[in-house]
Amino acid sequence: MLNKKLDLKRLLFSMSSLVDLGQEATSSKDLSAKMKAALYVITGMFSVPTAALFVYNPQRKILRLFVEKGRRARERRVKGIPLLPEHIKRFRMNDPHTFRDMAESAFFVRNKEVFSDLQTTIFLPLFAKGDFVGAIALGRKLGRAPFRQGEKDVLRVIAHQMAITLHNARLFLEVAKKAAENKKLYSSMQQIYQDTIQAFATAIDAKDEYTKDHSYRVASYAVAIARELGWKKKDVEGIYIAGLLHDIGKIIIDVKVINKGATLSTPELTEIRKHPQISYDILSKIRFPWKNIENFVRHHHERLDGKGYPDSLKEAELSDGVKILALVDAFDAMTSDRPYRDKLPVSEALKEVTRCKGTQFDTKITNTFFNVLRKELNGEVKEPHILPHLHNLDMHKFKALSSNSDT
Ligand SMILES: [Fe+2]
Repeated sequence: MLNKKLDLKRLLFSMSSLVDLGQEATSSKDLSAKMKAALYVITGMFSVPTAALFVYNPQRKILRLFVEKGRRARERRVKGIPLLPEHIKRFRMNDPHTFRDMAESAFFVRNKEVFSDLQTTIFLPLFAKGDFVGAIALGRKLGRAPFRQGEKDVLRVIAHQMAITLHNARLFLEVAKKAAENKKLYSSMQQIYQDTIQAFATAIDAKDEYTKDHSYRVASYAVAIARELGWKKKDVEGIYIAGLLHDIGKIIIDVKVINKGATLSTPELTEIRKHPQISYDILSKIRFPWKNIENFVRHHHERLDGKGYPDSLKEAELSDGVKILALVDAFDAMTSDRPYRDKLPVSEALKEVTRCKGTQFDTKITNTFFNVLRKELNGEVKEPHILPHLHNLDMHKFKALSSNSDT
């Protein structure tokens, strides 16, 4: 009767300790704190003053001391313990290992000092889903009594719980590591992408001696309008790239035609007007991470009234991206020297944009362009994208101009 009462008491104590252990293992603490708390529950449960938890590193094939309790500070530092596959095989066959098992095992004999420092009497290998993840070394009980069969059964349950926690943590770490590697790879790919595109833009602008940095300015103005229209970050990136590459087709056009000082003949005009189509042909072969680049580029010389090229599209067929590029490309052309004429003063170019609103340029896009410019002149924009490229434009002149527009 007395024994039965004692067994029931032990069972209840083990049960409540296992509940404590479960709570520790699933808590939101970091792994080391979680494992330390779990180890304290175990030592309390079996009245064991010393204990240690090792984790297995499968890449380096070593068992590393992770958390411990009760070992005196003056005792030696535990380095990584090398483990061979046959050791793990043996752990799998015989769990938990008692002192007697250990005396017969080459692994424990080789690492006697570590385990005697911990006064190890029970070595509990941790397996989860067939993988060896670590081990718990338990010291002698305070009363020096051996571990009974029932206690070893409880230890098996504990081993299972701790192993699952370690296994999950390892999986989580691997996923996090993979995600970090992918992120790094993605950002370096993005960088290569951007660098290549910038190199192309420089090559395009270098071919046309009159339009140095034209592509950069077009890209920059386009970004300012797209942002003002509330475009998503990815779409803003897309219009920036389209701006940089919109004239890529000029790479194939005869440099003499591009840089001809005099008015172009009809065949030369036909030749140069092929460049949006060529830009499209080049870019449509690239799988960009941004949408519509090739279409923006193909139609950057289209007009609302259908008098543009290459497809003579009408207003309803033009996307906002196309309308933005068409406006900023024409505006930058007006404010740059060309082989056949000097650049227009900015105020004159803005007047011309206003005059062409509704025929060549879209009204909403033109108004947005003026709106951004007004904000940049007012100092309301942290990083102005248009104003730094324009000379001799002040608020006074701009106000006089914009009174003629609908902004
Ligand atoms: Fe162009």
